[in-house]
Amino acid sequence: MSARLPHVAPPARAELEPIEVASRDEIAALQLQRLKWTLRHAFDHVAHFRAKCQAAGVHPDDLREHADLARFPFTTKDDLRQTYPFGMFAVPREKLLRLHASSGTTGKPTVVGYTERDLSTWADLVARSIRASGGRRGDLVHVAYGYGLFTGGLGAHYGAERLGCTVIPVSGGMTERQVQIIQDFKPDLIMVTPSYMLAIADEFERQGLDPRASSLKVGIHGAEPWTNALRHEIEQRMAMHAVDIYGLSEVMGPGVANECIETKDGLHLWEDHFYPEVIDPATGASLAGGEVGELVLTTLTKEALPMVRYRTRDLTRLLPGTARSMRRMEKVTGRSDDMLIIRGVNLFPSQVEELILKQGALSGHYMIEVSRPRQLDEIKVVAELRPEATPNSEAAEERIAAALQHDIKSLIGVSARIEIVPVGRIERSIGKARRVIDLRPKG
Ligand code: DLL
Repeated sequence: MSARLPHVAPPARAELEPIEVASRDEIAALQLQRLKWTLRHAFDHVAHFRAKCQAAGVHPDDLREHADLARFPFTTKDDLRQTYPFGMFAVPREKLLRLHASSGTTGKPTVVGYTERDLSTWADLVARSIRASGGRRGDLVHVAYGYGLFTGGLGAHYGAERLGCTVIPVSGGMTERQVQIIQDFKPDLIMVTPSYMLAIADEFERQGLDPRASSLKVGIHGAEPWTNALRHEIEQRMAMHAVDIYGLSEVMGPGVANECIETKDGLHLWEDHFYPEVIDPATGASLAGGEVGELVLTTLTKEALPMVRYRTRDLTRLLPGTARSMRRMEKVTGRSDDMLIIRGVNLFPSQVEELILKQGALSGHYMIEVSRPRQLDEIKVVAELRPEATPNSEAAEERIAAALQHDIKSLIGVSARIEIVPVGRIERSIGKARRVIDLRPKG
Protein backbone atom coordinates (compact mmCIF):
# COMPACT_ATOMS: atom_id res chain seq x y z
CA MET A 1 0.00 0.00 0.00
CA SER A 2 1.38 3.40 -0.95
CA ALA A 3 1.18 6.00 1.81
CA ARG A 4 -0.07 9.43 0.80
CA LEU A 5 2.38 12.20 1.60
CA PRO A 6 1.12 15.27 3.42
CA HIS A 7 0.70 18.50 1.48
CA VAL A 8 3.65 20.81 2.16
CA ALA A 9 3.68 24.09 0.27
CA PRO A 10 7.07 25.17 -1.11
CA PRO A 11 8.15 28.71 -0.20
CA ALA A 12 6.57 31.45 -2.29
CA ARG A 13 8.97 33.35 -4.53
CA ALA A 14 8.65 36.40 -2.30
CA GLU A 15 9.92 34.37 0.66
CA LEU A 16 13.19 33.51 -1.11
CA GLU A 17 16.37 35.55 -0.80
CA PRO A 18 17.03 37.60 -3.96
CA ILE A 19 20.20 35.60 -4.71
CA GLU A 20 18.20 32.36 -4.83
CA VAL A 21 16.40 33.63 -7.90
CA ALA A 22 19.21 35.80 -9.33
CA SER A 23 20.40 35.34 -12.90
CA ARG A 24 23.37 33.11 -13.66
CA ASP A 25 25.38 36.21 -14.57
CA GLU A 26 24.71 37.80 -11.21
CA ILE A 27 25.71 34.62 -9.40
CA ALA A 28 28.88 34.25 -11.49
CA ALA A 29 29.89 37.87 -10.87
CA LEU A 30 29.43 37.48 -7.13
CA GLN A 31 31.44 34.26 -7.18
CA LEU A 32 34.34 35.82 -9.03
CA GLN A 33 34.54 38.72 -6.62
CA ARG A 34 34.35 36.37 -3.63
CA LEU A 35 36.87 33.88 -5.10
CA LYS A 36 39.39 36.71 -5.35
CA TRP A 37 38.73 37.66 -1.75
CA THR A 38 39.11 34.07 -0.51
CA LEU A 39 42.39 33.46 -2.33
CA ARG A 40 43.84 36.70 -1.07
CA HIS A 41 42.61 36.10 2.48
CA ALA A 42 43.99 32.53 2.61
CA PHE A 43 47.29 33.55 0.98
CA ASP A 44 47.84 36.44 3.37
CA HIS A 45 46.91 34.58 6.55
CA VAL A 46 47.57 30.85 6.14
CA ALA A 47 51.31 30.08 5.83
CA HIS A 48 50.62 26.50 4.72
CA PHE A 49 48.44 27.67 1.82
CA ARG A 50 50.90 30.39 0.84
CA ALA A 51 53.73 27.85 0.72
CA LYS A 52 51.68 25.51 -1.46
CA CYS A 53 50.85 28.34 -3.87
CA GLN A 54 54.47 29.38 -4.05
CA ALA A 55 55.53 25.79 -4.73
CA ALA A 56 52.95 25.63 -7.53
CA GLY A 57 54.03 29.03 -8.88
CA VAL A 58 50.63 30.69 -8.50
CA HIS A 59 49.54 33.88 -6.79
CA PRO A 60 46.03 35.17 -5.98
CA ASP A 61 46.49 37.87 -8.64
CA ASP A 62 46.55 35.09 -11.25
CA LEU A 63 42.83 34.56 -10.83
CA ARG A 64 41.10 36.69 -13.46
CA GLU A 65 38.20 34.43 -14.31
CA HIS A 66 36.57 31.39 -12.69
CA ALA A 67 38.50 28.90 -14.81
CA ASP A 68 41.80 30.20 -13.41
CA LEU A 69 40.95 28.53 -10.12
CA ALA A 70 42.07 25.22 -11.67
CA ARG A 71 45.67 26.52 -11.49
CA PHE A 72 45.58 26.59 -7.69
CA PRO A 73 46.55 23.59 -5.56
CA PHE A 74 43.94 21.32 -4.03
CA THR A 75 43.42 21.14 -0.29
CA THR A 76 42.90 17.71 1.26
CA LYS A 77 42.19 16.27 4.68
CA ASP A 78 45.91 15.66 4.87
CA ASP A 79 46.59 19.41 4.85
CA LEU A 80 44.37 19.71 7.93
CA ARG A 81 46.19 16.81 9.59
CA GLN A 82 49.62 18.27 8.87
CA THR A 83 48.63 21.56 10.44
CA TYR A 84 46.66 20.01 13.32
CA PRO A 85 45.00 21.47 15.28
CA PHE A 86 44.85 25.18 14.35
CA GLY A 87 47.35 25.68 11.53
CA MET A 88 44.85 26.29 8.72
CA PHE A 89 43.01 29.09 10.49
CA ALA A 90 43.22 32.48 8.81
CA VAL A 91 42.29 34.43 11.95
CA PRO A 92 43.81 34.45 15.45
CA ARG A 93 42.32 31.81 17.77
CA GLU A 94 40.68 34.53 19.87
CA LYS A 95 38.47 35.47 16.91
CA LEU A 96 36.91 32.00 16.84
CA LEU A 97 33.58 31.57 18.55
CA ARG A 98 33.36 27.84 18.09
CA LEU A 99 35.33 24.74 17.17
CA HIS A 100 34.04 21.46 15.75
CA ALA A 101 35.98 18.36 14.84
CA SER A 102 35.35 15.26 12.79
CA SER A 103 36.65 12.04 14.20
CA GLY A 104 37.70 10.42 10.95
CA THR A 105 38.30 6.71 10.77
CA THR A 106 42.04 6.90 11.28
CA GLY A 107 44.46 9.23 12.98
CA LYS A 108 43.88 12.69 14.32
CA PRO A 109 40.56 14.44 14.04
CA THR A 110 40.27 17.39 11.71
CA VAL A 111 39.50 20.59 13.54
CA VAL A 112 37.38 23.37 12.08
CA GLY A 113 36.54 26.81 13.48
CA TYR A 114 34.12 29.66 12.93
CA THR A 115 34.17 33.41 13.49
CA GLU A 116 31.03 35.23 14.51
CA ARG A 117 30.29 36.02 10.87
CA ASP A 118 30.94 32.39 9.83
CA LEU A 119 28.43 31.14 12.42
CA SER A 120 25.90 33.65 11.21
CA THR A 121 26.38 32.62 7.57
CA TRP A 122 26.06 28.98 8.57
CA ALA A 123 22.79 29.63 10.40
CA ASP A 124 21.50 31.57 7.37
CA LEU A 125 22.33 28.70 5.01
CA VAL A 126 20.76 26.02 7.19
CA ALA A 127 17.69 28.27 7.51
CA ARG A 128 17.63 28.53 3.70
CA SER A 129 17.97 24.73 3.51
CA ILE A 130 15.09 24.10 5.92
CA ARG A 131 12.94 26.57 3.99
CA ALA A 132 13.80 24.79 0.73
CA SER A 133 12.70 21.56 2.44
CA GLY A 134 9.27 23.07 3.13
CA GLY A 135 9.90 24.34 6.68
CA ARG A 136 8.84 27.78 7.76
CA ARG A 137 8.78 30.17 10.71
CA GLY A 138 6.76 28.74 13.57
CA ASP A 139 7.36 25.09 12.69
CA LEU A 140 8.39 22.68 15.42
CA VAL A 141 11.70 21.00 14.53
CA HIS A 142 13.03 17.82 16.14
CA VAL A 143 16.84 17.67 15.78
CA ALA A 144 18.18 14.13 16.14
CA TYR A 145 21.62 14.75 14.64
CA GLY A 146 24.28 14.38 17.30
CA TYR A 147 25.17 17.47 19.32
CA GLY A 148 28.83 17.97 20.18
CA LEU A 149 31.96 18.08 18.06
CA PHE A 150 29.94 16.74 15.08
CA THR A 151 28.52 19.65 13.07
CA GLY A 152 25.12 18.01 12.53
CA GLY A 153 23.31 18.85 15.77
CA LEU A 154 24.41 22.42 16.41
CA GLY A 155 24.42 23.24 12.70
CA ALA A 156 20.80 22.15 12.32
CA HIS A 157 19.87 23.78 15.61
CA TYR A 158 21.01 27.32 14.89
CA GLY A 159 19.66 27.18 11.35
CA ALA A 160 16.21 26.18 12.57
CA GLU A 161 16.29 28.96 15.17
CA ARG A 162 17.39 31.45 12.51
CA LEU A 163 14.36 30.54 10.42
CA GLY A 164 12.15 31.21 13.44
CA CYS A 165 11.30 27.60 14.26
CA THR A 166 10.88 26.09 17.70
CA VAL A 167 13.76 23.63 18.14
CA ILE A 168 13.73 20.42 20.17
CA PRO A 169 17.44 19.63 20.67
CA VAL A 170 17.09 15.87 21.18
CA SER A 171 20.48 14.81 19.70
CA GLY A 172 21.04 11.18 18.64
CA GLY A 173 20.40 8.05 20.66
CA MET A 174 17.84 6.89 23.25
CA THR A 175 15.53 5.79 20.49
CA GLU A 176 12.55 5.09 22.75
CA ARG A 177 12.66 8.67 23.93
CA GLN A 178 12.87 9.94 20.32
CA VAL A 179 9.52 8.26 19.68
CA GLN A 180 8.01 9.55 22.89
CA ILE A 181 8.99 13.12 22.04
CA ILE A 182 7.59 12.83 18.53
CA GLN A 183 4.32 11.45 19.95
CA ASP A 184 4.00 14.06 22.71
CA PHE A 185 5.47 17.25 21.20
CA LYS A 186 4.16 16.63 17.67
CA PRO A 187 7.02 18.15 15.62
CA ASP A 188 6.44 19.14 11.98
CA LEU A 189 9.98 18.39 10.83
CA ILE A 190 12.76 16.04 11.83
CA MET A 191 16.46 16.43 11.05
CA VAL A 192 18.30 13.12 11.33
CA THR A 193 20.51 10.75 9.33
CA PRO A 194 18.46 8.54 6.98
CA SER A 195 19.72 5.36 8.64
CA TYR A 196 18.73 6.55 12.10
CA MET A 197 15.34 7.61 10.73
CA LEU A 198 14.73 3.97 9.84
CA ALA A 199 15.72 2.91 13.35
CA ILE A 200 13.21 5.41 14.76
CA ALA A 201 10.53 4.03 12.42
CA ASP A 202 11.30 0.53 13.71
CA GLU A 203 10.96 1.76 17.29
CA PHE A 204 7.49 3.16 16.53
CA GLU A 205 6.47 -0.27 15.31
CA ARG A 206 8.12 -2.06 18.23
CA GLN A 207 5.95 0.04 20.53
CA GLY A 208 2.86 -0.90 18.53
CA LEU A 209 2.53 2.62 17.11
CA ASP A 210 1.92 3.49 13.47
CA PRO A 211 4.75 5.78 12.31
CA ARG A 212 2.55 6.98 9.45
CA ALA A 213 0.19 8.51 11.96
CA SER A 214 2.89 10.76 13.47
CA SER A 215 2.81 14.55 13.15
CA LEU A 216 5.96 14.63 11.00
CA LYS A 217 5.55 16.14 7.55
CA VAL A 218 9.17 16.43 6.41
CA GLY A 219 12.44 14.69 7.24
CA ILE A 220 15.70 16.47 6.33
CA HIS A 221 18.25 13.73 5.95
CA GLY A 222 21.96 13.72 5.26
CA ALA A 223 25.45 13.18 6.69
CA GLU A 224 25.76 9.86 4.83
CA PRO A 225 25.08 8.58 1.32
CA TRP A 226 21.51 7.36 0.74
CA THR A 227 19.65 6.39 -2.39
CA ASN A 228 16.33 7.39 -3.90
CA ALA A 229 15.20 3.86 -3.01
CA LEU A 230 15.82 4.67 0.66
CA ARG A 231 14.00 7.98 0.22
CA HIS A 232 10.99 6.05 -1.03
CA GLU A 233 11.27 3.62 1.88
CA ILE A 234 11.34 6.45 4.47
CA GLU A 235 8.51 8.33 2.76
CA GLN A 236 6.31 5.24 2.72
CA ARG A 237 7.07 4.13 6.26
CA MET A 238 6.73 7.59 7.80
CA ALA A 239 4.16 9.11 5.41
CA MET A 240 6.31 12.25 5.25
CA HIS A 241 8.56 13.88 2.66
CA ALA A 242 12.24 12.93 2.82
CA VAL A 243 14.58 15.65 1.57
CA ASP A 244 18.36 15.54 1.16
CA ILE A 245 20.77 17.89 2.96
CA TYR A 246 24.51 17.84 2.24
CA GLY A 247 27.54 19.30 3.90
CA LEU A 248 30.90 18.57 5.43
CA SER A 249 32.67 20.03 8.41
CA GLU A 250 35.79 21.16 6.54
CA VAL A 251 33.68 23.35 4.29
CA MET A 252 31.11 24.40 6.96
CA GLY A 253 28.82 21.60 8.13
CA PRO A 254 25.25 20.77 7.06
CA GLY A 255 23.67 23.24 4.66
CA VAL A 256 26.20 23.42 1.81
CA ALA A 257 23.47 22.11 -0.50
CA ASN A 258 19.85 21.06 -0.07
CA GLU A 259 17.03 19.68 -2.11
CA CYS A 260 13.91 21.70 -2.80
CA ILE A 261 10.71 19.98 -1.74
CA GLU A 262 8.86 20.97 -4.90
CA THR A 263 11.26 19.06 -7.17
CA LYS A 264 13.36 16.62 -5.05
CA ASP A 265 15.67 16.38 -8.03
CA GLY A 266 19.12 16.75 -6.50
CA LEU A 267 20.59 19.32 -4.15
CA HIS A 268 20.84 23.00 -4.95
CA LEU A 269 24.34 24.04 -4.05
CA TRP A 270 24.37 27.36 -2.26
CA GLU A 271 26.68 28.85 -4.84
CA ASP A 272 26.83 32.31 -3.30
CA HIS A 273 28.98 30.77 -0.54
CA PHE A 274 30.63 27.75 -2.19
CA TYR A 275 32.20 27.37 -5.61
CA PRO A 276 31.89 23.81 -6.95
CA GLU A 277 34.09 21.91 -9.38
CA VAL A 278 33.97 18.27 -10.37
CA ILE A 279 37.22 16.48 -11.12
CA ASP A 280 38.43 13.10 -12.21
CA PRO A 281 39.55 11.67 -8.85
CA ALA A 282 42.40 9.77 -10.48
CA THR A 283 44.01 12.58 -12.48
CA GLY A 284 42.66 15.73 -10.82
CA ALA A 285 41.55 17.06 -14.22
CA SER A 286 38.38 19.17 -14.33
CA LEU A 287 35.30 17.45 -15.69
CA ALA A 288 33.35 20.28 -17.20
CA GLY A 289 30.66 18.38 -19.04
CA GLY A 290 28.34 17.30 -16.25
CA GLU A 291 30.14 13.98 -15.79
CA VAL A 292 30.27 12.13 -12.49
CA GLY A 293 33.45 12.74 -10.54
CA GLU A 294 34.75 14.04 -7.23
CA LEU A 295 33.21 17.22 -5.89
CA VAL A 296 35.75 19.94 -5.07
CA LEU A 297 34.56 22.96 -3.11
CA THR A 298 36.03 26.40 -2.53
CA THR A 299 34.49 28.49 0.22
CA LEU A 300 33.62 32.03 -0.84
CA THR A 301 32.92 33.86 2.41
CA LYS A 302 34.53 31.91 5.23
CA GLU A 303 36.81 33.95 7.46
CA ALA A 304 38.18 31.44 9.97
CA LEU A 305 38.84 28.50 7.67
CA PRO A 306 38.89 29.48 4.03
CA MET A 307 39.10 26.33 1.94
CA VAL A 308 40.51 26.47 -1.55
CA ARG A 309 39.65 23.54 -3.83
CA TYR A 310 38.86 21.15 -1.00
CA ARG A 311 38.68 17.56 -2.25
CA THR A 312 35.52 16.20 -0.67
CA ARG A 313 35.96 12.60 -1.97
CA ASP A 314 32.21 12.67 -2.64
CA LEU A 315 31.13 11.46 -6.06
CA THR A 316 28.43 13.39 -7.89
CA ARG A 317 27.87 15.56 -10.93
CA LEU A 318 26.72 19.13 -11.45
CA LEU A 319 23.40 19.86 -13.09
CA PRO A 320 21.70 23.12 -14.02
CA GLY A 321 19.31 24.76 -11.55
CA THR A 322 15.60 24.01 -11.53
CA ALA A 323 13.60 25.24 -8.53
CA ARG A 324 16.40 27.80 -7.90
CA SER A 325 18.92 29.39 -10.25
CA MET A 326 21.85 27.85 -8.41
CA ARG A 327 23.26 24.63 -9.81
CA ARG A 328 22.36 21.27 -8.39
CA MET A 329 24.55 18.38 -7.39
CA GLU A 330 23.14 14.95 -8.02
CA LYS A 331 22.49 12.83 -4.94
CA VAL A 332 25.90 11.60 -3.79
CA THR A 333 26.37 7.97 -4.83
CA GLY A 334 29.24 7.40 -2.44
CA ARG A 335 32.71 8.47 -1.51
CA SER A 336 35.68 7.57 -3.65
CA ASP A 337 37.21 6.00 -0.52
CA ASP A 338 34.08 3.86 0.06
CA MET A 339 34.35 2.21 -3.32
CA LEU A 340 35.05 -1.50 -3.06
CA ILE A 341 36.90 -3.24 -5.83
CA ILE A 342 35.84 -6.86 -5.80
CA ARG A 343 37.77 -8.94 -8.31
CA GLY A 344 38.13 -5.96 -10.55
CA VAL A 345 34.54 -4.78 -10.31
CA ASN A 346 33.84 -1.42 -8.67
CA LEU A 347 31.01 -1.45 -6.20
CA PHE A 348 29.45 1.17 -3.97
CA PRO A 349 27.31 0.31 -0.95
CA SER A 350 24.57 2.53 -2.43
CA GLN A 351 24.22 0.20 -5.44
CA VAL A 352 23.63 -2.71 -3.10
CA GLU A 353 21.18 -0.60 -1.06
CA GLU A 354 19.05 -0.01 -4.14
CA LEU A 355 18.86 -3.71 -4.95
CA ILE A 356 18.06 -4.67 -1.35
CA LEU A 357 15.17 -2.24 -1.26
CA LYS A 358 13.84 -3.66 -4.53
CA GLN A 359 13.09 -6.82 -2.58
CA GLY A 360 9.80 -6.02 -0.90
CA ALA A 361 10.60 -8.13 2.16
CA LEU A 362 13.87 -6.40 3.08
CA SER A 363 14.25 -3.18 5.07
CA GLY A 364 16.99 -0.62 4.57
CA HIS A 365 19.20 -2.04 7.33
CA TYR A 366 22.15 -3.82 5.75
CA MET A 367 25.86 -4.41 5.96
CA ILE A 368 28.51 -5.53 3.51
CA GLU A 369 31.32 -7.75 4.74
CA VAL A 370 34.47 -7.97 2.65
CA SER A 371 36.92 -10.78 3.28
CA ARG A 372 39.77 -12.55 1.55
CA PRO A 373 39.55 -16.20 2.51
CA ARG A 374 41.55 -17.64 -0.41
CA GLN A 375 43.64 -14.82 -1.91
CA LEU A 376 40.54 -13.45 -3.60
CA ASP A 377 38.13 -10.87 -2.25
CA GLU A 378 34.65 -12.03 -1.41
CA ILE A 379 31.63 -10.11 -0.22
CA LYS A 380 28.75 -11.08 1.93
CA VAL A 381 25.63 -8.92 2.06
CA VAL A 382 23.74 -9.17 5.32
CA ALA A 383 20.22 -7.79 4.91
CA GLU A 384 17.45 -7.50 7.43
CA LEU A 385 13.82 -8.44 6.96
CA ARG A 386 11.09 -5.89 7.42
CA PRO A 387 9.18 -6.23 10.67
CA GLU A 388 5.97 -7.22 8.91
CA ALA A 389 7.61 -9.44 6.33
CA THR A 390 8.97 -12.35 8.32
CA PRO A 391 8.71 -15.25 5.85
CA ASN A 392 7.01 -18.31 7.15
CA SER A 393 9.51 -20.82 5.82
CA GLU A 394 13.18 -21.30 5.16
CA ALA A 395 12.34 -21.81 1.51
CA ALA A 396 10.74 -18.36 1.32
CA GLU A 397 13.82 -16.84 2.90
CA GLU A 398 16.03 -18.64 0.41
CA ARG A 399 13.97 -17.28 -2.45
CA ILE A 400 14.57 -13.72 -1.23
CA ALA A 401 18.30 -14.39 -0.89
CA ALA A 402 18.47 -15.95 -4.36
CA ALA A 403 16.65 -12.99 -5.92
CA LEU A 404 19.03 -10.49 -4.30
CA GLN A 405 22.06 -12.54 -5.28
CA HIS A 406 20.83 -12.68 -8.84
CA ASP A 407 20.29 -8.91 -9.00
CA ILE A 408 23.73 -8.15 -7.57
CA LYS A 409 25.35 -10.51 -10.05
CA SER A 410 23.48 -9.32 -13.10
CA LEU A 411 23.32 -5.59 -12.34
CA ILE A 412 26.64 -4.97 -10.55
CA GLY A 413 28.59 -7.97 -11.80
CA VAL A 414 29.75 -9.34 -8.48
CA SER A 415 28.99 -12.73 -6.92
CA ALA A 416 27.92 -12.10 -3.36
CA ARG A 417 26.91 -14.40 -0.56
CA ILE A 418 23.65 -13.30 1.01
CA GLU A 419 22.54 -13.68 4.58
CA ILE A 420 18.98 -12.73 5.48
CA VAL A 421 18.59 -11.92 9.16
CA PRO A 422 15.59 -11.16 11.37
CA VAL A 423 14.61 -7.67 12.50
CA GLY A 424 17.04 -6.04 14.89
CA ARG A 425 20.07 -8.17 14.05
CA ILE A 426 22.02 -5.43 12.31
CA GLU A 427 23.53 -2.96 14.71
CA ARG A 428 21.71 0.38 14.60
CA SER A 429 23.88 3.46 14.46
CA ILE A 430 22.56 6.59 16.06
CA GLY A 431 24.29 8.79 13.51
CA LYS A 432 26.14 7.75 10.37
CA ALA A 433 25.62 4.08 9.57
CA ARG A 434 28.62 1.85 9.03
CA ARG A 435 27.82 -0.09 5.88
CA VAL A 436 31.08 -1.90 5.18
CA ILE A 437 33.03 -4.22 7.44
CA ASP A 438 36.41 -4.96 5.96
CA LEU A 439 37.85 -8.22 7.25
CA ARG A 440 40.69 -8.36 4.73
CA PRO A 441 44.21 -8.59 6.14
CA LYS A 442 45.81 -5.13 6.28
CA GLY A 443 48.83 -4.16 4.22
O1 DLL B 1 28.15 14.98 7.95
C1 DLL B 1 27.70 17.34 7.97
C2 DLL B 1 26.25 17.06 7.90
C3 DLL B 1 25.51 16.92 9.04
C4 DLL B 1 25.61 17.00 6.68
C5 DLL B 1 24.15 16.69 9.00
C6 DLL B 1 24.24 16.79 6.58
C7 DLL B 1 23.52 16.62 7.75
P1 DLL B 1 31.09 15.40 8.27
O2 DLL B 1 30.92 14.61 9.49
O3 DLL B 1 32.33 16.21 8.11
O4 DLL B 1 29.91 16.42 8.11
O5 DLL B 1 30.96 14.39 7.05
C8 DLL B 1 30.93 14.88 5.74
O6 DLL B 1 29.46 13.09 5.02
O7 DLL B 1 31.89 14.43 2.79
C9 DLL B 1 29.87 13.04 2.73
O8 DLL B 1 30.74 11.95 2.47
C10 DLL B 1 28.89 12.66 3.80
N1 DLL B 1 27.62 13.35 3.57
C11 DLL B 1 27.13 14.43 4.20
N2 DLL B 1 25.89 14.74 3.72
C12 DLL B 1 25.61 13.82 2.76
C13 DLL B 1 24.50 13.58 1.90
C14 DLL B 1 28.59 16.11 8.01
N3 DLL B 1 23.41 14.33 1.93
C15 DLL B 1 30.72 13.73 4.78
N4 DLL B 1 24.61 12.56 1.02
C16 DLL B 1 30.62 14.19 3.36
C17 DLL B 1 25.70 11.79 0.97
C18 DLL B 1 26.72 12.95 2.66
N5 DLL B 1 26.76 11.94 1.77
